[in-house]
Amino acid sequence: MQKKTDKLIYRGKSKDVYEIREGKYQGKYKMVFTDRATGYKKAGQTIFDPGYDNVVGSIPGKGKIACQFTTKLFRLLKEKHIPTHYIETVSDDAVIVEPAIPISMKEEAAGVPGSAPLVNLEFTWRNNNMGSFWRRYPFVRPCKNLNFVVEAWTKGKSDILITFESLVAAGVVTRSEIKLYRKLVKKIASIVTIALAQKNIHAIDGKFELGRLKHGGKKIVLIDEISCDVLRVCKGFLPDRYGNCMIYGQCIKTSYKDGVRTIQAKNQLSAKQLLKIFL
Ligand SMILES: Nc1ncnc2c1ncn2[C@@H]1O[C@H](COP(=O)(O)OP(=O)(O)O)[C@@H](O)[C@H]1O
Ligand SMILES: [Mg+2]
Repeated sequence: MQKKTDKLIYRGKSKDVYEIREGKYQGKYKMVFTDRATGYKKAGQTIFDPGYDNVVGSIPGKGKIACQFTTKLFRLLKEKHIPTHYIETVSDDAVIVEPAIPISMKEEAAGVPGSAPLVNLEFTWRNNNMGSFWRRYPFVRPCKNLNFVVEAWTKGKSDILITFESLVAAGVVTRSEIKLYRKLVKKIASIVTIALAQKNIHAIDGKFELGRLKHGGKKIVLIDEISCDVLRVCKGFLPDRYGNCMIYGQCIKTSYKDGVRTIQAKNQLSAKQLLKIFL
């Protein structure tokens, strides 16, 4: 239950963010994980898929699971001295976090029709070639080791890849900031990958958000969540000495129809399976 004094400041696809106005955590944000889920409709059916950007329904219990994952992984990051927004978990579905400002940019030519701000950036990291990386670069064999390649995306109705060079040229960030962000994303990705590997789960790829703390030196930290919604994992990963999965021929199913590519991994774990093994 939200306190009357908490002020809803953002309702996202899956979470609600409140500013706390009273008590011990006054001035901090409360992030409430809801059961809202993204996906798409196919032949009248609802398909839930965290890779999509439209909310299509809700999955009972999803919010609490995301909260548990986030709690476990942010606590682990704290132990490893990684800067994050996480303060504490206060209920089954809510965490208290430091307010941050996502990496963003106001529109420079507000009067120009079609101008729009950069609201937020997301960073993907990839251990192996899957998903949109393969769809964009189908000349690379599925599940090839990509050595934690980091990419930046503008967040919106649909995410758009933006190169680091473009971010610098546009004036969103400096070259040295980009270096720092990439290093931080890779470090966090490797901690998460190792934590999952300890349970025999292989992290294929994931997505993080960074932000600048509103108070206390405007430090860059990991914000948002780490849950099934932002991780793609599988079992049975069998790497050769270069880190390329050797069983992709049996695991990966791709198709190319009407100019559209799809890629699926048979051994990919569902959220349900992941939580059974990992939590
Ligand atoms: N510490 C923080 N300070 C401010 N905003 C945050 C913080 N952590 C996460 N957010 C933002 O809160 C929102 C969380 O809700 P979510 O449902 O994930 O939204 P979205 O649909 O934008 O992904 C995200 O937009 C995320 O950028
Ligand atoms: Mg989100």
